[in-house]
Amino acid sequence: MSKQTLTVTDNRTGKTYEFPIKDGTINAMDIRNIKVDDNDFGLMSYDPAYQNTASCRSSITYIDGDKGILLYRGYPIEQLAEHSNFVEVAYLLLNGELPGKDQYEKFRHEVTVHTFVHENLKKFMEGFRYDANPMGILIGTLGALGTFYPNAINVNDAGERRLNVIRLIAKMPTIAAWAYRQSMGMPYVYPDNELSLAGNFLAMIKRIAEHRYIPNPKLERALDVLFILHADHEQNCSTSVMRGAGSSLTDPYSAVAAATAALYGPLHGGANAEVLHMLDEIGSRDRIPEFIAKCKEGKARLMGFGHRVYKNFDPRSRIIQKLAHEVFEITGSNPKLDLALEIEKIALQDEYFIKRKLYPNVDFYSGLIYQAMGFPVGMFPVLFAIGRVVGWLAQWQEMLNDKEQKIARPRQIYTGAASRDFVPMNRR
Ligand code: SDX
Repeated sequence: MSKQTLTVTDNRTGKTYEFPIKDGTINAMDIRNIKVDDNDFGLMSYDPAYQNTASCRSSITYIDGDKGILLYRGYPIEQLAEHSNFVEVAYLLLNGELPGKDQYEKFRHEVTVHTFVHENLKKFMEGFRYDANPMGILIGTLGALGTFYPNAINVNDAGERRLNVIRLIAKMPTIAAWAYRQSMGMPYVYPDNELSLAGNFLAMIKRIAEHRYIPNPKLERALDVLFILHADHEQNCSTSVMRGAGSSLTDPYSAVAAATAALYGPLHGGANAEVLHMLDEIGSRDRIPEFIAKCKEGKARLMGFGHRVYKNFDPRSRIIQKLAHEVFEITGSNPKLDLALEIEKIALQDEYFIKRKLYPNVDFYSGLIYQAMGFPVGMFPVLFAIGRVVGWLAQWQEMLNDKEQKIARPRQIYTGAASRDFVPMNRR
């Protein structure tokens, strides 16, 4: 058996060092021992955007980017999307195992009875401009939500942690729906606890004058599957922010607000909205080659394509593409689907995309479904956040329980001015 170590020679000193290789990594702190003399701070690794840095050990989600595999606690996403539901997947991600019947019923009940928010939070939300972007409303309101639970800062209290995890999962759909209603200038609809999480969300979005809104079961199921698909994705940008913010021991509401802000970016959870903007810009099939050419010149990005980890199909995009056809049977097809399918076909045959292993990701088709279901583009990242809040919280609690973790604080390479004396204004 070959030695599981790495031997390096520092040619500045001729010294040789041997580091253990564990789980396909070397410990970055080991290379700090490589010094030219005793005054030397020691070597660091330089990794902008952490492209080749493992920040933690996690047992929650596994991705094989080359094979297009995604597992939640070992279960293939395809099986969970077919056989499970979002609340059960939330339990799985948070606890590591699928729940038994009693465990599931108890968890589902707890989530259901926490869907309401304090009336003052409603007044807070009504303070936003009538046309404020719902993602901005969501970010602000999540921070405000934490002020109603001052004990949430006791993050090392397991009972308090669990209660706030339940509250956030349960209240995210309510706040998300109310952010939509605020941005549409419509009255808020209170939760209907007789409905499923996805069904209740649709009711709070869609209900107008009817006494009770009963969602179309197929659309309810489609949304539930979309929440499953978006629930977690290992150390993506927003989850890294959740872990980073949480590492200072802030409360989970503040950390979730920070993660939601990161998700909002067009390169991350905002991409599903950017796909629709891109399809509108392209407009018709005959203009696809012109847009693809712009991408290849670096003047545009094919939104919904590419991924830091997947160098094959994002398995979620295949499930979503199939889901789209089921939704369109009810809502009527989205004319942009044909355009998207044609773009995918052309891109997957183009050397530029093949060479860079750029495939459709989770965002390429999800926006088409949301639009067909009547959601405005501004709501797309909000819908992403309803699913992803479960992953953020599962990763957050894993981080808090990980004895190897401490407050996140990367180093830097300083490129600024050397020490210099202050210059009074009259001599500048
Ligand atoms: C999500 O991390 C996650 O898991 C995220 C996510 C999750 O569930 O949390 O999966 C959700 O955020 C999915 C990604 C959604 N974003 C988009 O669809 C935006 C478009 N995609 C890209 O901007 C890009 O692909 C990223 C941001 C997703 C990944 O960027 P990387 O890994 O930093 O890759 P890169 O920007 O270094 O690109 C490598 C090359 C570059 O070309 P060269 O400089 O080598 O010539 O590929 C090119 C890029 O220009 N490229 C693209 C492209 N994506 C990468 N060119 C055209 N269109 C694209 N979409």
